[in-house]
Amino acid sequence: MVCGIIGITSSEDVLDKPLGVSLKEALKKLEYRGYDSVGFALIDKAGRLVVRKSKGMIDAVAAKVGFELFDGYTGIGHTRWATHGPPSDVNSHPHTDCSGKIAVAHNGIIENYMELKEALIDEGHTFISETDTEVIPHLIEEFEKKGFKPYEAFKKAVELLRGAYAIVAIDVNDPRKVFFARNTSPLVLGFGVKANFVASDAVAFLNFTRRVLALRDGEVGYITPEEVVVERLEFREGRPVWVAVDFTSRVKNIDWTVEMASKGGFKHFMLKEIHEQPYALASTIASAAESVDKLAKILTRVDRVLLAGAGTSYHAAYVAALLLRKYAGLWALPVVSSEAQWWLSTVKEGDVVLGISQSGETIDTLKAVREAKKRGALTVAVSNVIDSAIPRESDIAIYTKAGPEIGVAATKTFTTQVTLLGYLSLRTGVLNGFLSESEASEAFKSLRELPNLVRHAINTYEAKMASLAVEMKDRPNAYFLGRGLGLPLSMEGALKLKEIAYIHAEAYPAGESKHGPIALVEEGFPTIFTIVTADEGELIKSNVEEMRARGSLTIAVFPKNLEDIARLVKTPIKMPVVKDVAASALYIVPHQLLAYYTSVKKGLDPDKPRNLAKTVTVF
Ligand code: M6R
Repeated sequence: MVCGIIGITSSEDVLDKPLGVSLKEALKKLEYRGYDSVGFALIDKAGRLVVRKSKGMIDAVAAKVGFELFDGYTGIGHTRWATHGPPSDVNSHPHTDCSGKIAVAHNGIIENYMELKEALIDEGHTFISETDTEVIPHLIEEFEKKGFKPYEAFKKAVELLRGAYAIVAIDVNDPRKVFFARNTSPLVLGFGVKANFVASDAVAFLNFTRRVLALRDGEVGYITPEEVVVERLEFREGRPVWVAVDFTSRVKNIDWTVEMASKGGFKHFMLKEIHEQPYALASTIASAAESVDKLAKILTRVDRVLLAGAGTSYHAAYVAALLLRKYAGLWALPVVSSEAQWWLSTVKEGDVVLGISQSGETIDTLKAVREAKKRGALTVAVSNVIDSAIPRESDIAIYTKAGPEIGVAATKTFTTQVTLLGYLSLRTGVLNGFLSESEASEAFKSLRELPNLVRHAINTYEAKMASLAVEMKDRPNAYFLGRGLGLPLSMEGALKLKEIAYIHAEAYPAGESKHGPIALVEEGFPTIFTIVTADEGELIKSNVEEMRARGSLTIAVFPKNLEDIARLVKTPIKMPVVKDVAASALYIVPHQLLAYYTSVKKGLDPDKPRNLAKTVTVF
């Protein structure tokens, strides 16, 4: 899971407010990542290290510790999602060394912390927390005691760490620097004016700068207000040597704005992001025209396509596999990233493996991409975050243009993934001749109409879903049933309801429901059908009947011309009749709204579901 990290170094008073406040504001932007404790450390204007931290949410912790009371030019902040040691004041980050001069915040897991801790205890160090992180400040202190300067001591410490980490550290012995190191866990630098930043996500510093550098695994360095140094460890003549990294060409201007990363009048990020879908889709479709052609040409020559993704991205992979089969005649298979290794064992040169991940950092998907590459397949990233790990490690990257997605529940990134991949399927079908010109032109037209259709669906169904949510909120279980494209949409609908409304929701192929799941269905048990095409509707009718016969509360999202379905179900959600490539994105909208309002009506916070984090960088 991920914690949130921020490091700021500024000269004079460019931040215009106490550093404690800037750290708090940055941490607020990282709240979406999921956390249970908050803390910060800064070097105050008298050169002393100040550390304040506590279990709890940012606002409550701020009221307790008073971020605004502390000022300085160099500081770090952290939101912790507990791994080693339960959430508590003492386990919160930052952690310090024995002398109280070094402070460290960390995201990830230090696998060899026990052995390091024991060695440090033997050297006389005292530990106060149960965390793996606490070894890091003590290691730095130990190397400083041996005569290393702070940055050198930091690098020596990093050399000893095994595991996944993003680390920031400050040290009163070198008070203008924030040290950083990345291995597997995301970390980006922000280049400001008389101020530089390091954070787990650029949204933390968007109000200061949009010039960013995504750090790569193994990169270590520091920022001062005027300087950015990045190095990596190389082995020369068998000896490890730190060498400078020339990152100039990697610095990018991101087109995300501060407004995109704020709630803009909506009660929750999730609701705002549902409403942003028309813009997100329009931008994705506009850029797809340029970005997918090279890949579509490649796909005309390949044998097999595997699409790997986790959670919502897996559902997008599933939709895309069906579209690639239907529109381009390709052999395409969706796989859950964490299970991919069993499918990848037969992948070889000539195959293409797509790693679908909005964050571009999901470790299971990254692992699948690495494995595919090792086996000689062409790897393609489909991501929403430029230069994140999966795009960086893939041969080709294509991007959705959804803008930052802060709510833990994926919404606009799903519809844009499905649309981008739908577009790719159509282009491939056109290029390999599988798709007739007339069918292609009708399908492209439906994609161009999609942003307006989504806007209209939100306006039409928001109130209806809010009132259906009142019926749903006290139900302990629900089934989501579909066939064909309706199945991955059902899986996505179930995931949304499960993750933010805490209702046990299962998706099944509708035809499978009578092979076991139906045993649970009794009076009032909700079964929610998603039907994308008339063919699916024809086949699903008998499944609806079976559920009705058992008193199920039947709900269906379906094309409005399927009159039989309208007659059969208790709650019909009639959708515009549109080509399946567009319906695959459009028909998920009622599900998103239903999950959102059910969560809200249950008094939950849909942006921060329990036990979940936005980006999952652990296996
Ligand atoms: O960043 P990714 O798309 O790789 O994330 C994959 C899943 O962790 C993600 O889709 C998760 O299932 C969401 N919370 C779903 O809403």
